[in-house]
Amino acid sequence: MSDRIVVTGAAGQVGRFLTARATAEGRPVLALNSAQWNIADPVAAPVLNSGDVVVNCAAYTNVDGAEAAPDDAHAVNATGPANVARACAQAGARLIHISTDYVFGGDAQRGPGRPYELDDPVDPVNVYGRSKLDGERAVAAALPTATVVRTSWVYTGGDGNDFAAVMAGKARAGQAVDVVDDQIGSPTYTGDLVAALLQIIDERLEAPLLHAGNAGEASRFEQARAVYAAVGADPELVRPVGSGAHPRPAARPAYSALAGQQSERAGLRPLPPWRDAVARALAEGRPLAGYPLGRD
Ligand SMILES: NC(=O)c1ccc[n+]([C@@H]2O[C@H](COP(=O)([O-])OP(=O)(O)OC[C@H]3O[C@@H](n4cnc5c(N)ncnc54)[C@H](OP(=O)(O)O)[C@@H]3O)[C@@H](O)[C@H]2O)c1
Repeated sequence: MSDRIVVTGAAGQVGRFLTARATAEGRPVLALNSAQWNIADPVAAPVLNSGDVVVNCAAYTNVDGAEAAPDDAHAVNATGPANVARACAQAGARLIHISTDYVFGGDAQRGPGRPYELDDPVDPVNVYGRSKLDGERAVAAALPTATVVRTSWVYTGGDGNDFAAVMAGKARAGQAVDVVDDQIGSPTYTGDLVAALLQIIDERLEAPLLHAGNAGEASRFEQARAVYAAVGADPELVRPVGSGAHPRPAARPAYSALAGQQSERAGLRPLPPWRDAVARALAEGRPLAGYPLGRD
């Protein structure tokens, strides 16, 4: 019998995919949504067993909303992971905590072909990124054996609110769209991220920090064109604009692609190239609705 996987934030994008895949593989899973384990509440942890693997998929992920609600973002993204790490430490459970490319600043030293490695300096440019960085540090302090997994620009192939899903909806409707071409990152398919998380669990990788993004880098514009192509729409319907055309409350790093070489040396298999992943994600769709939460 494999170790039980305890999923926080199980109604979210990554939590749903992880829960569905692990369950489909016949693994023991305890999937808990925000009502079932509010990680910001220091006494809300469920009974954890020695040998459980907690995967913290819970987060305050509204990057723009965080600017006006820094305390809320900090409570979920920094205090929350500290609570989860303490609960794991007390029970003797493992912890895999998910973090973000937005811990990086995308400063002038960076640009295409110079992705961020594990040991590059962090410098978040928005409230969300600062709260996630505080979460990384809180986890490392409370449970040094935990693994923090940074990922980037996560999307599904389905009908949710993520970037690829929204672009797929517009593509199928034959709509033209303007998309920024001056933000570059590592678009990452949730299914490939989940495969990496399961590898970390199964092979007991012990690295304190890993990068798990699909290989390569793309602008939002290139990602949108790839989505249009994947659903058979005309990619020329996607037009490039500068981010000045779409002012947002939160600043974003202009460049935040993640490098995977150091993570590969730590044992993590490289994730597939981002463009292949877009096509696969759109073909696979949204496999996951309807898994009963809070059940073993
Ligand atoms: N999405 C991306 O592009 C991206 C990029 C890099 C890193 N990440 C990281 O990947 C992880 C998973 O994100 P995701 O894309 O799956 O986000 P998501 O779809 O927004 O899911 C986050 C989940 O966390 C839950 N949550 C919020 N507050 C909580 C609390 N106090 N206690 C327990 N659960 C709570 C939310 O539940 P409610 O809806 O009930 O509030 C939601 O179901 C996060 O750590 C995120 O920072 C995401």
